[in-house]
Amino acid sequence: MDNLSSSSRVITFTGPKEGVGKTSVSLNLALAWANYQKRNVIIIPLDPACRQEQAMILGLNPPSMAEIIQTLGRESVSALGALLRGKIPLSHYGVGVLPLAKRRADAARLSPDVILPILSKLSQSFDIFLDVDPYFPMQVFAFDISDLVFWVTNSNVSSLNATAATFREINELHFPISKFEAVCNLYDMPGALAPKEVEKFFKQLGKDILAFMPWEDSLPGYTNQNKVLIVEQPNTQWIKVLRVLLGRLAELKPGEKHWATTVAAPEFTHGAEML
Ligand SMILES: Nc1ncnc2c1ncn2[C@@H]1O[C@H](COP(=O)(O)OP(=O)(O)O)[C@@H](O)[C@H]1O
Ligand SMILES: [Mg+2]
Repeated sequence: MDNLSSSSRVITFTGPKEGVGKTSVSLNLALAWANYQKRNVIIIPLDPACRQEQAMILGLNPPSMAEIIQTLGRESVSALGALLRGKIPLSHYGVGVLPLAKRRADAARLSPDVILPILSKLSQSFDIFLDVDPYFPMQVFAFDISDLVFWVTNSNVSSLNATAATFREINELHFPISKFEAVCNLYDMPGALAPKEVEKFFKQLGKDILAFMPWEDSLPGYTNQNKVLIVEQPNTQWIKVLRVLLGRLAELKPGEKHWATTVAAPEFTHGAEML
């Protein structure tokens, strides 16, 4: 294991549902983290629907993993680290995006055995942020290779029930719960349980809550204009709380990577086929 790859971090952002704030948190934290530690960050959206949200917001037009595999061929992808690196454009914040594919059908053809060698190569130059939509096989794949998982949830009953269900499955799979950090986004929305109740709920799952992130009026507007809140308004309360996540990342000791997963190829894309 060389120093370069052993010092890289793989961080997952996922949660119980769509719309809880995974993409907002991961994108803003990616910019903060790239700036803080002067190492570039590559965001990999594990999104079976292939929305190109992050690329649009960052004003990038990256090739997809499916396209890179098609041009370089499966064999050379893992051999040619520098070439692979050179294909991924970075925003001037030091953050790039590598989507799985641009069309759902192409994403459905990708499997862990082609994705893992690419991630392993990328990790020699970048820290990797996986923005994982709530499909269980993709989540398990991401958990398998991550140093840390930010579990982003809302505080309403349905998100918490879905969280409990996933944590039960995580327990059954023997994932160390210490790898997970709970982040309650939109904790002050109507319909949300009181923070004390949410804390009690997570205590039963064996977790303290790392951060309660408030509703931030300007966040949806900036997103719609392809702007990033942390660039436009770094002094908002939401960004202040995001610094707690940054602090957690800063104290993380990245573990040695094995680049292996228990998720089999047909399972991985199962979520995509169900769409
Ligand atoms: N704390 C927040 N305050 C206001 N709007 C938010 C907040 N978190 C997320 N949003 C908005 O909610 C929508 C869904 O957020 P997003 O980050 O895309 O969620 P996910 O990736 O989990 O589907 C977006 O329009 C986003 O701007
Ligand atoms: Mg998202």
